[in-house]
Amino acid sequence: MAANKSAKKDKPSWRHHNLTTAGPVDDYLYSMLPKRDEVLVEMEDYASEHDVPIVGPAVARVLQQLALTINAQSVFELGSAIGYSTMWWAQAVGEKGRVVYTDGDPKNAARARGYFERAGVSKRITIHTGDALEFLSEQKQQYDVIFNDIDKEDYPRVLRLVSPRLRKGGLFITDNVLWSGRVAEKNPKDARTKAILEFNRLLYNSVDFYTTILPIRDGLAVALKK
Ligand SMILES: C[S@@+](CC[C@H](N)C(=O)[O-])C[C@H]1O[C@@H](n2cnc3c(N)ncnc32)[C@H](O)[C@@H]1O
Repeated sequence: MAANKSAKKDKPSWRHHNLTTAGPVDDYLYSMLPKRDEVLVEMEDYASEHDVPIVGPAVARVLQQLALTINAQSVFELGSAIGYSTMWWAQAVGEKGRVVYTDGDPKNAARARGYFERAGVSKRITIHTGDALEFLSEQKQQYDVIFNDIDKEDYPRVLRLVSPRLRKGGLFITDNVLWSGRVAEKNPKDARTKAILEFNRLLYNSVDFYTTILPIRDGLAVALKK
């Protein structure tokens, strides 16, 4: 158990090693990341020990940087788990900004709430427990950022809901679009791989978005609303 824990500390489960970069290059990228605050580090350790599939610090930094670039004040997140990516959004939007956390699992939401309170960002975050797609479909306002990290079979459905709920110049960002490299398989049978392939095709061909997949970790699709 102790050996397993220290192996996970050396190679956290959220790293998705060497998908598009060689191992040493990947190590270098992670070694360059500035130290995170105490609560974020605790969340990273918890995620690695319990195999919670968080984006991890390299991708989280991209998310925060993108939010800062467009001066985002409102973020809607689909699939928040223990609230790791939510925390990075909350830091990006600042005291006056708002972030919507969504997750289907109330235990995740309870754990996330504890982290948000300890980090002093809970006032910026609305926690919604239930189906993220349903909640998004009820939204009347337009957001600056919509972040998609839910079950992969639902990605095409998410895309259909996003455009009216995102402001012009806003960002629709989606994690895991390279799906551990399975998007490059010749005849994928797995439903999740097929859904991601459909999603990527629809997103790149959408007249509403200008899209690039950043090959960092498991692939991050960044789509600018035209
Ligand atoms: C990959 S994890 C999210 C990780 C989080 N974005 C982070 O990086 O810290 C996906 C989460 O989405 C939740 N989920 C999946 N489908 C959902 C849905 N339709 N509605 C709400 N939550 C969903 C799961 O419970 C899971 O906790």
